[in-house]
Amino acid sequence: MRVSKRVEGLPPYLFVEISQKIAEKKARGEKVISFAIGDPDIPTPDHIIQRLCQAARDPANHRYPETYGLAEFRQAIAEWYGQRFAVILDPDAEVLPLIGSKEGIGHAAFCFVDPGDIALVPDPAYPVYSVSTMLAGGEPYYMPLTEESDFLPDLEQIPPEVAHRAKLMWLNYPNNPTAAVAGIDFFQRVVEFANKYDLVVCHDAPYTEVAFDGYRPVSFLQVPGAKDVGMEFHSLSKSFNMTGWRVGMAVGNAQWRDALMRVKSNLDSGIPQAIQYAAIEALRGDQECIREHNAIYERRRNEMVKVLREMGLRVTPPKASLYIWAGVPEGYTSAEFATRLLEEVGVVVTPGTGYGRYGEGYIRLSLTTPDAEIAEGLARLSAWRPSR
Ligand SMILES: Cc1ncc(COP(=O)(O)O)c(C=O)c1O
Repeated sequence: MRVSKRVEGLPPYLFVEISQKIAEKKARGEKVISFAIGDPDIPTPDHIIQRLCQAARDPANHRYPETYGLAEFRQAIAEWYGQRFAVILDPDAEVLPLIGSKEGIGHAAFCFVDPGDIALVPDPAYPVYSVSTMLAGGEPYYMPLTEESDFLPDLEQIPPEVAHRAKLMWLNYPNNPTAAVAGIDFFQRVVEFANKYDLVVCHDAPYTEVAFDGYRPVSFLQVPGAKDVGMEFHSLSKSFNMTGWRVGMAVGNAQWRDALMRVKSNLDSGIPQAIQYAAIEALRGDQECIREHNAIYERRRNEMVKVLREMGLRVTPPKASLYIWAGVPEGYTSAEFATRLLEEVGVVVTPGTGYGRYGEGYIRLSLTTPDAEIAEGLARLSAWRPSR
């Protein structure tokens, strides 16, 4: 008996391989500094944890939750979108809590993609967009994100016959892995494109709250007409350092939200209610913690950019996201450069090709490593010079 062809065809999840390499080094007694994974090291703010503890003691929260989440949580999400982006959402029709945005992104393919359909997927990108498309029997069509076009897809370059066959377009700004940002004018062009070719836009936006130098990322739903063509996926993971708690949301088009709920309600039983109460506290509570975290990331960004540039890497300081996307020196591939850093100085970075073939020539470093480890990692990098 063999596993399904569907599973056989899946690539290994990028970070599983990286974790294995780190484990091997550690087993040999070597100290490894990892800049690989975008998982905030700063703890969840205390007022949120306190609310979780309180809610965990209430027996009403020990039972199955509803897939569509607590009405109060949907309301808190709608209020937060109103305050943060001036986007008006109907909490009952246009909001769906998720078990982390990854869950909703994975399931979204099953709402829109039939076998043989195309999904337009950025390259490089968070791998879940293409993998879920393939699991649904669809075919990803990759839209290159290049430095020349500020890591925005060139919509003009998508052949009309491909656009006509496409059911879905994935976008993600502030972007992982390139750290690029998109403005309202780009999103307006996306809405026009979606209307022209009758496709659904899924904008993945978990990094809108992680921004620097006073920059404020926008929501796709701020564009007039966006709700007619699309949905936005958001998350408390990066905004409030809650990656481990698994809570996010899909908001926007009521019809697509219903489709996602139909898929989800057949597969999962929603978010534990105590976590929903903690998430309400995060969204309605003091937002000062976001500014405090961003000040820490901004300082780390500045320190890391300085050292990377001294090493001869090509770096634009990111305005948002948890990542630095650095061009490797001439003569190296991403994988060679990342391997040399791991082997020679025990520093883990992610090779850009882990996110797609247009990631060649880059490495990604995350800003979520604790300060003391960053200092050690940067000292190791400063003492090392690429030879060749
Ligand atoms: C672009 C992007 N989307 C979605 C996610 C998943 O976030 P969550 O923790 O909400 O599942 C991540 C996590 O790294 C991400 O980088």
